[in-house]
Amino acid sequence: MKTVYIRSFGCQMNKLDTALVTGALKNANFTFTDSLDSASVVIINTCSVREHAEEKVLSHLGHLKHIKQSRPELVVGIIGCMAQRLGNSLLEHPAVDIVCGPAQLHHLTALIIEALQEKKKLLSITEKIRLPIRDEESQRLEEFECLYDSDDNLLPAQAFVRVMHGCDNFCSYCIVPYVRGPQISRPPNLIIDQVKRLADNDVKQITLLGQRVNAYKYTQGDKTYCLADILEMASAVNGIEWIKFVTSYPADDYFDEICKAVANLPKVCHYLHMPAQSGSDRILKAMNRHYTAAQYLDLLNRARTYVPDIAVAGDFIVGFPDETNEDFRASVNLVRQARYKNCFIFKYSPRPGTTAQNRLSDNVPMEIKQQRNIELLKVQEAISDELSKNFLGKTVTVLVEGLSKKPHLNTKNSESYPQLTARTAADWIVVFNGPQTLAGSFTHVKITKTSPLTLFGEMCA
Ligand code: SAH
Ligand code: SF4
Ligand code: F3S
Repeated sequence: MKTVYIRSFGCQMNKLDTALVTGALKNANFTFTDSLDSASVVIINTCSVREHAEEKVLSHLGHLKHIKQSRPELVVGIIGCMAQRLGNSLLEHPAVDIVCGPAQLHHLTALIIEALQEKKKLLSITEKIRLPIRDEESQRLEEFECLYDSDDNLLPAQAFVRVMHGCDNFCSYCIVPYVRGPQISRPPNLIIDQVKRLADNDVKQITLLGQRVNAYKYTQGDKTYCLADILEMASAVNGIEWIKFVTSYPADDYFDEICKAVANLPKVCHYLHMPAQSGSDRILKAMNRHYTAAQYLDLLNRARTYVPDIAVAGDFIVGFPDETNEDFRASVNLVRQARYKNCFIFKYSPRPGTTAQNRLSDNVPMEIKQQRNIELLKVQEAISDELSKNFLGKTVTVLVEGLSKKPHLNTKNSESYPQLTARTAADWIVVFNGPQTLAGSFTHVKITKTSPLTLFGEMCA
């Protein structure tokens, strides 16, 4: 019996893939460990979205190279987006035995067994990633995906469900279409069967995943299904209580249908993650995002008309090529107007092979990117602070994740119970003291203190 150490360094898609691999390896009788020392196999699921994400993996590999000097039998597999992007050149790294792309994960168990039997380097990636995937390969990938029934490392009672693969948007800065391939929606019956199996395994919250999840579209017979249909079908599954979906692209595709589904289906959470990326129309155009700031705000208004209390999260990139101070001010303005619950802000990082990297110069100095990042975060923080204060004195329903990783200063610290973290349906983080056995269940918490990103409170009896 061999022991595996597996880590995810990427987005929710990446975490879902880690869960799939974990399930497959468990089926093949592998066991798991959190300590590198006791592992005979190390799997790192990687991300290529920014240079920094790749650097983290490379530095980890430096460490593994060191370990392998005394334990040459250790098998190291690199999977995910960086594996697909770098392929052979990553395999040449002295610490690496296996390189396996996101579309080959169903081969990974066999590759690991092969590498354990005989020391050799193994590569499995898609050569021409933008070509349509072959039918039988797609079938095998779908079978692999369907095996997933929450036997994983993720949060208790929660699971991700992929509704589509890949992306066809080609935002000029983004590597995802080149590492995840074309956008393909999964068949509705397979998605729902999977949701049912997850519910049978005590999953209470599912998060539907797609790079442009609102573009989900699948034609079967004479019916075309959109995301609103999937939300409705998933709502009908007993045991599932909360349904979230990410990430929404600011465009008209089925926008009203989806907002109506959020408004009318009680299990669908009032939460929308819809990145704007910039508030400057000139920069949005250069980013190949097909909307203006005004159109973006109009979509937000529409969402809030259907669902007045919908919590919105956003993403912004600062320091995109040629971003002037005026462009940046437009982003500040958009953040002020959008009133996000929270916002992820990234410094532009040129990605090899993307149009922005090929055609534009990364000409905003790092200090300016840094300053803009800090300023935008500050503007958002003030808004998050105001919004979180609205919760003071209110009681919220939360799904408990587990022990809080870092100790928070809580107003009333109970000696007998540890600090737990939980989330509301609208994705607010809630910290309170309670029994650890609550992980994976719903409870009610009265909010007594707030900070911009976290609500603190006491468990209601
Ligand atoms: N599909 C999702 C997000 C994918 S990547 C969407 O379209 O919203 C997650 C976030 O990383 C993006 O929203 C963007 O803000 C950021 N990002 C992507 N490429 C980047 C790059 N080259 N440099 C900096 N940030 C980037
Ligand atoms: Fe990247 Fe744009 Fe696709 Fe999102 S929609 S994954 S930002 S190309
Ligand atoms: Fe996700 Fe990073 Fe790949 S954001 S899709 S793991 S490039």
